[in-house]
Amino acid sequence: MNTAARNLVDQVKKLGTLPTVYTKVNELVNDPNCPASKLGDAISNDQVITSMILKLVNSALYGFPNYIDTVTKAVTIIGFKQTRDLVLASSVIDMFKNGKANEFIDLQGFWKHSIAAAISAKALAGHISKSDPEAMFTAGLLHDIGRLIMLEFTDKLPLIPLIQKCKEREILVYKNERKVLGFTHMDVADALFYKWNLPPVLKEAAVFHHAPQMAPRFKEEACCIHIADAIAHALQLGNSTDLFVPVIHEESWESLGIPLDKLPVVIRQVNSSYPDLVKIFFKE
Ligand SMILES: [Fe+2]
Ligand SMILES: [Fe+2]
Repeated sequence: MNTAARNLVDQVKKLGTLPTVYTKVNELVNDPNCPASKLGDAISNDQVITSMILKLVNSALYGFPNYIDTVTKAVTIIGFKQTRDLVLASSVIDMFKNGKANEFIDLQGFWKHSIAAAISAKALAGHISKSDPEAMFTAGLLHDIGRLIMLEFTDKLPLIPLIQKCKEREILVYKNERKVLGFTHMDVADALFYKWNLPPVLKEAAVFHHAPQMAPRFKEEACCIHIADAIAHALQLGNSTDLFVPVIHEESWESLGIPLDKLPVVIRQVNSSYPDLVKIFFKE
């Protein structure tokens, strides 16, 4: 693990522990005898997360025909692990959405990019037989979180000059992070996911989104986030601070085994769910 990236994560107080609700939910999900109502009750103790989960499952992202009015019903319909992943996604976005902002940081733009990648990842996963769409949604939402943490240190790191230089030269920021800063936003995500002890599939999918072929165990999931990120960029939804569309590794698309004619379907799903999700997370 990159030591500088780890030090950075250790300096952000709010990253010290995951929200209590996620820790509790994770504990219950790992208990094979836990009833759905107990999981639902644990989530219902947190009003912000409950409201986000209910809005998510009732949004165009799921398109369920009937209104789901309790978290317990949501757990029964979408599953235990899947609900846990949505709790994680909601907790992290809630933790960061009022974070440090300045003239260089467009926090909403950052999250909009992440939301678009999350929807794309879930939509892509829907076309891959053994993948888990909710895990991919959460990994998509968190894939650039390392960048967000780096942005908290613009007074100590030469990040803003790097972003400006990349913009002028029309090159990608992520490819120059290591040279200029000594670590990348993937290194920071790696340190954070380790600190939070998150499931390996989430960790690998997010940490290897720019180099999916390097993922040791979850290559397919890393490829999914790699492509979802490119789709979010190509559709110009939000702003990750990288202004150009990253090139999709050809073998990534091939390894997912999704027929090319499904791409317009995925894009339609992204465009139809995106406004709903932005409203849910930002009450726009
Ligand atoms: Fe990235
Ligand atoms: Fe991204």
